[in-house]
Amino acid sequence: MQAVMYDHFGDASVLSVREVAVPQAARGQVQVRVRMASLNPVDFKLRSGILRLLGRPKRPAITGKDFAGDITALGAEVQGYRVGQRVFGSVDPLGGQGSCAQFVALATDLIAPAPDALSDEVAASLPVASGTALQSLTDIAGLRHGQSILITGASGAVGASAVQLARSIGARITGVCGTANIDYVRSIGAEHVIDYNTANWQQSDERYDVIFDAAAAASFSAAKPRLTPNGIYINTMPRPALYWAAVVARATSRQRCVPFLLKTDAALLQRLAKLAAERVIVPRIHEIIDFAQVASAQRRMQEGKVHGKVCVRVDV
Ligand SMILES: NC(=O)c1ccc[n+]([C@@H]2O[C@H](COP(=O)([O-])OP(=O)(O)OC[C@H]3O[C@@H](n4cnc5c(N)ncnc54)[C@H](OP(=O)(O)O)[C@@H]3O)[C@@H](O)[C@H]2O)c1
Repeated sequence: MQAVMYDHFGDASVLSVREVAVPQAARGQVQVRVRMASLNPVDFKLRSGILRLLGRPKRPAITGKDFAGDITALGAEVQGYRVGQRVFGSVDPLGGQGSCAQFVALATDLIAPAPDALSDEVAASLPVASGTALQSLTDIAGLRHGQSILITGASGAVGASAVQLARSIGARITGVCGTANIDYVRSIGAEHVIDYNTANWQQSDERYDVIFDAAAAASFSAAKPRLTPNGIYINTMPRPALYWAAVVARATSRQRCVPFLLKTDAALLQRLAKLAAERVIVPRIHEIIDFAQVASAQRRMQEGKVHGKVCVRVDV
């Protein structure tokens, strides 16, 4: 099969479209023909090697995590799925697979059925970005109707899903984004929008029940004065200082600091499918490209020139 691969960590020039063996479904796994993949910042972070401390993909590695497609084979002991069924999900890139490939093989806990109402590009856009928003706002923050939330990166894939979810919960939303995206962030549900180029929310007088730092643009010490006494700060880029801040916050206050790491499972994917089918979450598709354009797309993502999801059409 064809896949977008790299042998060494580095910039986007290490990527090339190559021929590689089709992965087979082991016990408890399904083999899926990928129809659409979607790109996330974690793909270029893994490729560049900056996440080495969290784990190194086995090389040669295939880039990409998220996909939508249909099942082509069932491994032993797989129940509840059939060949031909449309599914979507997220591969574990540390296990030697990637979604910018014609086929993937993975455990059924990393997939869910794709409802007919969802296009391939919408289904492929959900797992990492919208999954991060859903897990952060509901499972971790327990966001409730009437609470106030500030969301950084509100125009990005994670942040926009968070704005849409917070709107459905009935929270009062402040979104932080760049100048070009103010109207978009307001249109998806933010009551207030702060342009990070002209204003600094960390120096305002407002206080929020939840600060979801999807852009990982602040620190707990900067966000702390802007939290209510029981407020929670969630940052999507875990690093040692955040874990230490989390310990100190627990010991000395009722505030919480949470370094976030996504844990994908079938239940989370099923919740995402339902929310997208109900159009609570509507991913913003920036563009649909093919394998040959993945390297240049990752380059533009790294440069902050992409607003929304880049999807990769996979022709078999
Ligand atoms: N830890 C985890 O498990 C996990 C899971 C998923 C994602 N993430 C991380 O979450 C981050 C966001 O992912 P994404 O897919 O949403 O990326 P994205 O689509 O590229 O969005 C990034 C957003 O950040 C905004 N931004 C840039 N500088 C900012 C600032 N100073 N203040 C506020 N917003 C700012 C951009 O706004 P404009 O475009 O309007 O300028 C853009 O909306 C990435 O770093 C990703 O790696 C982590």
